[in-house]
Amino acid sequence: AHDPVTVTVTGAAGQIGYALLFRIASGAMLGPDVPVRLRLLEVPQAVRAAEGTALELTDCAFPLLAGLDVMDDPAKAFDGANIALLVGARPRGPGMERAELLSANAGIFSVQGRAINDGAAPDFRAVVVGNPANTNALIASAHAPDVPARRFTAMTRLDHNRAVAQLAAKAGAAVSEVRNVAIWGNHSASQYPDISHATVSGRAASSLVDQEWIEGQFIPRVSQRGAEVIAVRGGSSAASAANAAIEHMKLWIQGTPAGDWTSMAVPSDGSYGVPEGLFASVPVTAAGGDYAVVRDLDISDFSRSRIDASVAELAAERDAVRGLGLLT
Ligand code: NAI
Repeated sequence: AHDPVTVTVTGAAGQIGYALLFRIASGAMLGPDVPVRLRLLEVPQAVRAAEGTALELTDCAFPLLAGLDVMDDPAKAFDGANIALLVGARPRGPGMERAELLSANAGIFSVQGRAINDGAAPDFRAVVVGNPANTNALIASAHAPDVPARRFTAMTRLDHNRAVAQLAAKAGAAVSEVRNVAIWGNHSASQYPDISHATVSGRAASSLVDQEWIEGQFIPRVSQRGAEVIAVRGGSSAASAANAAIEHMKLWIQGTPAGDWTSMAVPSDGSYGVPEGLFASVPVTAAGGDYAVVRDLDISDFSRSRIDASVAELAAERDAVRGLGLLT
């Protein structure tokens, strides 16, 4: 029998948390043979709501749920954690300046980074979902100097899935026929959803759609899909974000399928002109529990300019956080 894996979920009382926890406990993330110990971290005023979610988790009688604790202390939440899904973040309030947003989140992610540094298990892995996700991952990693930076990642799998779905719909194909879509840069409106390497049923996507559709429809639709969901649903993406977080971790741990890759924001090694250390989304493959950035892709002039623009935004976020004295 497999030893239980300790999974810490922050923002557990939020809407993504509610869509996420039951699937993790059912085995959707780690598979049907791996028991999970769930740690739900919340701010003190939301602990009671998280306890309510815990009552429901108990009532599912999930055979794989080997432990369940709710807490507001990051040190306890990350002690011995193997996996963290960092969902809780400070949302932008009315009239809030960008610097305020960055600084409020830097406060959260620096504290969590230190707690991870001090207590997490040697095989620790984290995905940051809470926005600004890429920069929050950078901050957490900067405050966890003893944890390899590459164990911190930020989620762009939702953007990736949105791109796959839009391309499949346009091509009149099943989503399972789409391969090698990539998301580059920041998880923000500046992201670059790239189909220049994609195939649909083995044919180059670029031979099936034209550049006008890519620039006028596809890129805006994918990069602004979050706003579209809010406008139509009356609430931000929750189940699709939770689903993407589960896939992000599952692919990292179990590997990407042959002939395809996923997208995730990882600390740059300088490849593709991304300054070293920035957490930029790139295409990655995974095998044996580790991931590798896909090497040597041809980057067109159009792709170059879109990647550079999104990476410039990431550099500006990093500089703003550094300017506030919140990066070491
Ligand atoms: P929500 O507001 O429903 O829930 C957030 C929860 O986080 C709240 O319960 C709050 O109390 C908690 N929280 C805040 N600070 C915390 C801390 N220091 N420790 C522990 N918990 C804390 O928000 P929702 O809809 O669940 O979204 C969560 C985050 O995910 C947001 O930042 C949102 O922008 C982001 N997001 C990211 C996506 C991506 O693709 N990367 C997609 C969708 C959402």
